[in-house]
Amino acid sequence: MKRALTSEKIIILDFGSQYTQLIARRIREVGVYSEILPHNASFKKLTALNPAGLIMSGGPESVNTKKALKFDPKILDSDLPVLGICYGMQSMAQHFRGKVSASSKREFGNAILKIYKGSIFTGLSNKTKEVNVWMSHGDKVSKLPKGFKKIASSKNSPIAAFENKKLKKYGFQFHPEVTHTDQGQKILKTFVKDICGCKGSWKPKNIVEALIEDIKIKVGNKKVLLGISGGVDSSVVAALLSKAIGKNLECIFVDNGLLRKGEAEQVKKDLKRGLKLKINFSDSEQLFLKKLKGETDPEKKRKIIGKTFVDVFLKETQKIKNISFLAQGTIYPDVIESSGLKNGKAHVIKSHHNVGGLPDYLKLPLVEPLNSLFKDEVRKIGKELGLPDYLIKRHPFPGPGLAVRSIGEIKKEKLEILRAADYIFMEELNSHNLYDKVSQAFAVFLPIKSVGVVGDARRYEYVIALRAAETTDFMTANAAKLDHKFLNLVSDRIINEIPQVSRVVYDISSKPPATIEWE
Ligand code: XMP
Repeated sequence: MKRALTSEKIIILDFGSQYTQLIARRIREVGVYSEILPHNASFKKLTALNPAGLIMSGGPESVNTKKALKFDPKILDSDLPVLGICYGMQSMAQHFRGKVSASSKREFGNAILKIYKGSIFTGLSNKTKEVNVWMSHGDKVSKLPKGFKKIASSKNSPIAAFENKKLKKYGFQFHPEVTHTDQGQKILKTFVKDICGCKGSWKPKNIVEALIEDIKIKVGNKKVLLGISGGVDSSVVAALLSKAIGKNLECIFVDNGLLRKGEAEQVKKDLKRGLKLKINFSDSEQLFLKKLKGETDPEKKRKIIGKTFVDVFLKETQKIKNISFLAQGTIYPDVIESSGLKNGKAHVIKSHHNVGGLPDYLKLPLVEPLNSLFKDEVRKIGKELGLPDYLIKRHPFPGPGLAVRSIGEIKKEKLEILRAADYIFMEELNSHNLYDKVSQAFAVFLPIKSVGVVGDARRYEYVIALRAAETTDFMTANAAKLDHKFLNLVSDRIINEIPQVSRVVYDISSKPPATIEWE
């Protein structure tokens, strides 16, 4: 994003910590734009971005081994304010000639931090002498670098935080970015606002204004095409574009017959009527079902859906004249993952999701207004734009839709059973205020028959599996510990209300090794 809003920024150097993105999000929650760069970004590149301060993240390596991740030493020799967290602190200690030693014991989990006088702790009340913090490290700083002052200690880390106020260099062995660290956000705020001098204008209202202005500058009075799905990202892009270019936004919505119950109607209601979008609806249920006929292989099902989607989309596009841009709902974590910042693994896991590959076919320049935002920011912006709450908080829904939740060959009758069961599950999650507490929940249709009794008669009917996952990044997940009473209620309703179902099971597998979806 251009403009003044991002001119005030904190850069996070990524040394491979699982918390790097979390640090960036926490800084933005303080109201300051943050960006993640690889650990070896040059000082020249950094200064060109004119950051107000820098955070060196944690990481899995040891600074004392050959595998230690390098950074440009000019960064620490400059007068930029720098906060090193865990590995970042240890790198800083080594640079300034302190000492880092391997512990005999890894410290992982909660610890009590004793706080001494330190300028980075001024955001805490005077009375705070101890806080609960989160530790996750093997190595620790064993000798202070010259000119540095110890400002906190814990039982296992005598030097748990240090600072050199004159050089504006600070180090924490603990993780202020995780919620297990009490008052961590206050400490980060002191660094960003008091030490780096940031004012903090990164707020939903300002972000919306800046994004709209950016779109206007980029697009002018040309036409933009957007595929909408009813999900959060594409709906927020639609709302932004609609505010920025009005009638020059053309939307395509493909009903592939694999959506949840009532979903297509809901999208019409919210986006067409609510936002007054021009939506070209393509009712393609028949076509998708025809193409999927006879196919039971999960990967082939995905491929068929991806290809059919592109065909339908291209056909719809041809009906619209003079399109100059294609808009997409790419968000910042997608950009980070595909830039190779991560070790490449995340990218591989997710690549099968991008079934469409539309940009390659359409050969249109892209408009990606959300590509510097995290998911929680997209939601806040959606709220600012006036989108309804349930749409903003909606769980993710996979591109191939119910096809990956209806095991085996796709048949309309089976999809209807799945839709009905899924609807009951969603209804009960909502009425028990559980929908927002889980990250993703859905029903799965299993094409096997099991016995049940109705009155005196035995009947053989299908099985429905319920899945509810708790996760922050969808790369790993746990099954939600839904109350048994609640699950019983959902099961009773499904079996009583849907005659073709005789049994309901709850999926308790974690990811990995299981995935969230069943196919
Ligand atoms: P898995 O099943 O890989 O899912 O644990 C992780 C997240 O990705 C979603 N998902 C998909 N999203 N197209 C998508 O757009 C797909 O083909 C696809 N497969 C899985 C899944 O719903 C979960 O949120």
